[in-house]
Amino acid sequence: MPYDYESDAAIVKDHLNCVHIGSEILFLPEIDSTNNLAKKHSKNDAQEGLVIIAESQTGGRGRMGRSWHSPPETGIYLSILLKPNLKPDHLSFITLLAGVSAILTINEISHQRANLKWPNDILINYKKVCGLLCEMTQEKGDSFSVVIGIGINVNQLPGQFPKDLKKTATSLKITNGSPVNRLTVIQSFLTNLDREYHSFLNKGGNSVIKKWCLNTNLFGKVISIKHGTNIIQGTAIRLDELGRLVLLMDNGHEEVFDSGEIILNKY
Ligand code: BTN
Repeated sequence: MPYDYESDAAIVKDHLNCVHIGSEILFLPEIDSTNNLAKKHSKNDAQEGLVIIAESQTGGRGRMGRSWHSPPETGIYLSILLKPNLKPDHLSFITLLAGVSAILTINEISHQRANLKWPNDILINYKKVCGLLCEMTQEKGDSFSVVIGIGINVNQLPGQFPKDLKKTATSLKITNGSPVNRLTVIQSFLTNLDREYHSFLNKGGNSVIKKWCLNTNLFGKVISIKHGTNIIQGTAIRLDELGRLVLLMDNGHEEVFDSGEIILNKY
């Protein structure tokens, strides 16, 4: 039976009860990248809260210029457009609150505990189950738009990941031992994101950082971080007030990272 994306779109729309998210929801059978389409809509004055969900992507994009494997029937590929009225140095909170919303959803559904890996991967048993790509664009004047793109591995079996991801990727079906309804995951994520975004706009970023830190097993561990062409090792000790990762170095000094990629030794 062909996949009925129109009825799924109706189910998601009917069950959402959000303040900011879901002003419009587009469900597409295939697109190059939901982030690309959300950015195009943003340029054409789309409203905050637009959600784009695709059954598959032909050019799904990940962080650091990587691609995101996006075949039909198994994963979730979704982007949300936000237009917050914030100063640029507060926009990083949007990335963190998207990660918090995703980890809350995954831990509602997963039988095994998931953890955030800075800046925004979600791992179960040290394998990646979800990734986020947040892209900011300066619009007219001083305003910014943010596209939050999320990819979640839901119903893949081990043999369905490409060779280079076999050792590092997992899915909710693999870790739960049974399939998971993708619409339930989408509804939960959008609901959590709406609530976390609303709370951030009203109360600021402190509670975003606190919630992020409650959902990671990173702190106290010696990690390596790839920053530009350098690989730096230190003990992860906290996120600072802007959500940057603080490492304690062997010489006793602290170093603060606003970007980079943690290299995955079991941490
Ligand atoms: C990463 O971990 O590298 C981020 C992956 C983000 C993938 C999602 S899938 C939906 C959205 N559209 C894209 O092209 N990328 C994001």
